[in-house]
Amino acid sequence: MAAVTYELIKTCKQSGARLGRVHTPRGSFETPMFMPVGTMATVKTLSPEDLKEVGAEIILSNTYHLWLRPGEDIIRQAGGLHKFMNWNGPILTDSGGFQVFSLSNLRKITEEGVQFRHHLSGEKLFLSPEKAMQIQHALGSDIMMAFDECPPYPAEYEYMKASVERTTRWATRCLETHEQSGQEKAQALFGIVQGGEYEALRKQSANDLTAMDFPGYAIGGLSVGEPKDVMNEVLEFTTPLLPTNKPRYLMGVGSPDSLIDGAVRGIDMFDCVLPTRIARNGTCMTSSGRLVVRNAAYASDFRPLDEQCACHVCRTYSRAYIRHLIKCEETFGFRLTSYHNLYFLLNLMKRVREAIQEDRLLDFRAELFEQYG
Ligand code: GUN
Ligand code: ZN
Repeated sequence: MAAVTYELIKTCKQSGARLGRVHTPRGSFETPMFMPVGTMATVKTLSPEDLKEVGAEIILSNTYHLWLRPGEDIIRQAGGLHKFMNWNGPILTDSGGFQVFSLSNLRKITEEGVQFRHHLSGEKLFLSPEKAMQIQHALGSDIMMAFDECPPYPAEYEYMKASVERTTRWATRCLETHEQSGQEKAQALFGIVQGGEYEALRKQSANDLTAMDFPGYAIGGLSVGEPKDVMNEVLEFTTPLLPTNKPRYLMGVGSPDSLIDGAVRGIDMFDCVLPTRIARNGTCMTSSGRLVVRNAAYASDFRPLDEQCACHVCRTYSRAYIRHLIKCEETFGFRLTSYHNLYFLLNLMKRVREAIQEDRLLDFRAELFEQYG
């Protein structure tokens, strides 16, 4: 049996959203689920204990960053990423495909892989499908991602077609490398559907990848600057192309409205730096929308960040105190906003799952959008 399996619990009669459970070697989690991002083997400012408290059940980390620092050999020596960072739950690692394109300079894409320069040191580096697999094997993540190209938006049809076809050939090489590694029972490899906003290319990508029988599929190349309705439309024609008995993961999406819009279109897993990134910039997600707690308006506001939130931060600290810490760049302030934002988003997903269970996700969506503004 594959290292990761999906169990469909029920489909929401009102919206078509899926309530499910993903089983991994390090435990199961219910879907739809949001995965906090721990790029550098830490979800910035939070401990693994904090992550458990806010309700995280699976986290994401990055091949690209851990390969560069500290290097996968050190993590292998530590006994894998879970032991290295003291997180014993499931970990999904992105392949580096996206990060090479978004972070590095002077890329050159060839059939073999991507040549580029280190985003800090300028050092010449090369990442290929085989290398991305070897690094993820060393990290020992429960879910590995295939090495892909995430083209910018917008991209010409002809460029996108050539890119999708190369990403498919790269996926074949990832699968072969993974099969030869002997890690198939311990680690699952997910394929990534690309194709931009072009229906024919999404179809081609989904058909070619589903024929390869991955235990799960991601939808990549979205949330790269396209309008919201373009993303929703792409999801509408792409998720039906994917098998119903495998998890579907929408990469890089994490705003409350997009999570619900994704779930409504049959997405099971999400990740995004958004909640933790905006937290470090003094912005909080609340039930009435974004609250920029660093603003002067909160200098003597002794209410919690979100009056409807039951998290430890909201039960303990005031907007005024958190604003003060953040204005002074005290790290504790960033920790408090990060903790709250992740709690808020993970709790939102829990409410989404409850709404699916009760066939009322569209009602829930309307109520939330009304309140969230
Ligand atoms: N993260 C967000 N989008 C993408 C994508 O298209 N590919 C990969 N590998 N990671 C992503
Ligand atoms: Zn809170």
